[in-house]
Amino acid sequence: MTTVKMNLGERSYDITVGRGLLSSADKYFNLKRRVFIVTDSGVPKEYAQAIAGCAEESLTVTVPEGEGSKSIETYGELLKKMIDFGLTRTDCAVAVGGGVVGDLTGFLAASYMRGIDFYNVPTTMLSQVDSSIGGKTAVNCGGVKNIVGAFHQPKGVLVDLDTLKTLPERQISSGLAEALKMSLTSDAELFSVFENEVLTDEVIEKTVISALKIKKSVVECDERESGIRKILNFGHTLGHAIEAEEEMRGFYHGECVALGMLPVIAPALKSRLVAVLRKLALPTEYKGDLESALKFVTHDKKCDGTKISVVLVDEIGSYRIEKIGTNEFAELVRERM
Ligand SMILES: NC(=O)c1ccc[n+]([C@@H]2O[C@H](COP(=O)([O-])OP(=O)(O)OC[C@H]3O[C@@H](n4cnc5c(N)ncnc54)[C@H](O)[C@@H]3O)[C@@H](O)[C@H]2O)c1
Ligand SMILES: [Zn+2]
Repeated sequence: MTTVKMNLGERSYDITVGRGLLSSADKYFNLKRRVFIVTDSGVPKEYAQAIAGCAEESLTVTVPEGEGSKSIETYGELLKKMIDFGLTRTDCAVAVGGGVVGDLTGFLAASYMRGIDFYNVPTTMLSQVDSSIGGKTAVNCGGVKNIVGAFHQPKGVLVDLDTLKTLPERQISSGLAEALKMSLTSDAELFSVFENEVLTDEVIEKTVISALKIKKSVVECDERESGIRKILNFGHTLGHAIEAEEEMRGFYHGECVALGMLPVIAPALKSRLVAVLRKLALPTEYKGDLESALKFVTHDKKCDGTKISVVLVDEIGSYRIEKIGTNEFAELVRERM
């Protein structure tokens, strides 16, 4: 078992990584109170049941699996359930699932009675390496991703690697794309693990811990994303655009990020990235309509004016952030994809 500490003054918390942890969740979380548990229909039921088994009094709510549950409607329905359950200011909410459940439950906890305690039990690779820490919570609205949300740090995070046993391979690969992203900007050694090692359970464990340590350091320096935290968006400008373009065609987030990294890495490094993407069974070529996807960059509702911050990697393990015009970015993508 490994504990990674997120140091954020009074908002500090432990991220505990190990196996078989769920049934002793009360060792890590204060569950001697009312516990509102949120999971989704695709997450094996036993995981939320294990957390409920550790709680003094709990209510488990299961939302439909998929991004559609990160909605204002679901958020409203769950708020009503929290009120009916009699959840007070001193009670807590626990997310058991991937980034969808984590982002939704985190936002419920951030806003219910102006903020209650939140614990995260991530069960997908993406949520274990990335989304479960750092305090970003949100739901989607009006077709815009994560447009309504809050910064609300969890009080504790339990990363039980055993939950990955039930996760489909494709979800594992998609989640690893986020760890790969972090290695490219911040950790050449982790990149060499992707490049040279066979991804056994032990190597995966090492990778999850390395990714959590990278993200933790970044968040500790810049909790609210006014500077360095932007590096976690490496590969996401084009990635989000492809995700928006492909929405109804079943691309996973990490797969879009994989493609999104291709034009923002130095051309000389591209073949090494492509080799790792192949090894992870991630896409290396975008076969959809690139021009149509690029429109989501040039018409981004969340973008301040026509300039965007783009993270570029010239050398593995380092980065630079450049403010460039959206048209200039589109040009870069056309040249390098
Ligand atoms: N808050 C952040 O910092 C942050 C960072 C990155 C991504 N995100 C968000 O995360 C979301 C994506 O998260 P995700 O990739 O985890 O997707 P997800 O939560 O939709 O989970 C993927 C699928 O796996 C299923 N599942 C979950 N755990 C399982 C398990 N152990 N075994 C079998 N099936 C399981 C789910 O039911 C779902 O169908 C997006 O909404 C994205 O915006 C947030
Ligand atoms: Zn991402």
